[in-house]
Amino acid sequence: MTKNPTRTPIARRFKGKVALVTGGTNGIGYAIALELLREGATVAVTGLPADVAGGRAAFAAAGFSPLIRAGDMADETFCRRVVSDVLKLHGRIDCLVNNAFSFIAKGLDAAREDFERSFNVGPFAFALLTQLVAEPMKKQGGGAIVNVSSISAWIAQPNRWTYNTAKGAVAQLTRCAALDLAPHKIRVNSVSPGWIWTREVDKAAGGDRAKFDPIWGQFHMLGRMGHPVEIAGPVLFLLSNDASFITGTDLPVDGGYNGLGPEGLGQNTKIAGSK
Ligand SMILES: NC(=O)c1ccc[n+]([C@@H]2O[C@H](COP(=O)([O-])OP(=O)(O)OC[C@H]3O[C@@H](n4cnc5c(N)ncnc54)[C@H](O)[C@@H]3O)[C@@H](O)[C@H]2O)c1
Repeated sequence: MTKNPTRTPIARRFKGKVALVTGGTNGIGYAIALELLREGATVAVTGLPADVAGGRAAFAAAGFSPLIRAGDMADETFCRRVVSDVLKLHGRIDCLVNNAFSFIAKGLDAAREDFERSFNVGPFAFALLTQLVAEPMKKQGGGAIVNVSSISAWIAQPNRWTYNTAKGAVAQLTRCAALDLAPHKIRVNSVSPGWIWTREVDKAAGGDRAKFDPIWGQFHMLGRMGHPVEIAGPVLFLLSNDASFITGTDLPVDGGYNGLGPEGLGQNTKIAGSK
């Protein structure tokens, strides 16, 4: 288990840019928002009401005070208000990171409401926010959007019909939105993280990181789980001008998860070439 690493900002690549990060009070979204702030962006984040005080304190401890709006991304009125508040306060939106998601993991037992919640917080809100920022971005002459997807968009996992279908929908939303927004110089991409130690994973581990981090780490070629800040760097790359010819695609940020075969890291295989 490695300690949460820190990242050196590449430059103030986002000076003068305004970014909105949903679910930016915790975990991966917080790491993305913080790195955007450290690279000069003006940032607004959303979070569930219970997470706002903690998020505000974490940003303050890092020396920042971004606009924070508390609410549920499944609530269309809230989504509209957030975008309108950012525009009123900051006058523009250059970057959108659709990150907040529902972690409902159900399969044969999934009820319609479970799917509805998964899609309402996930791809439906991603789509609505994309529509809402498209207009100001068009007027400004461009923008960049990154959708936080998952390895779960691309593979089967047990008891995950709800989460994995919602993430699968994010993949097609990313492509279709990228196509329609390309004429307006708005790029749309996604990142697909592997297992990242955040509170949802911590919950699944019953808080026992020392035990589960090394076990779940073996799902990745790198033999370890990832840190939120390791997702932030690739997201900032996709939002930046360095990615000016990249749109409609997904960047796996998964420590080699998706390339692993059934032999895993090879500990139990006695075939030529294995250790
Ligand atoms: N942690 C992982 O292993 C992992 C792996 C792949 C993908 N992801 C994806 O990364 C993203 C962030 O996950 P995380 O692990 O950082 O989660 P987290 O629980 O640490 O943080 C989630 C954030 O989203 C906000 N949020 C959650 N539901 C919301 C809602 N309905 N309305 C508004 N805000 C809401 C929370 O307040 C919080 O700020 C999600 O899209 C998740 O699917 C996570």
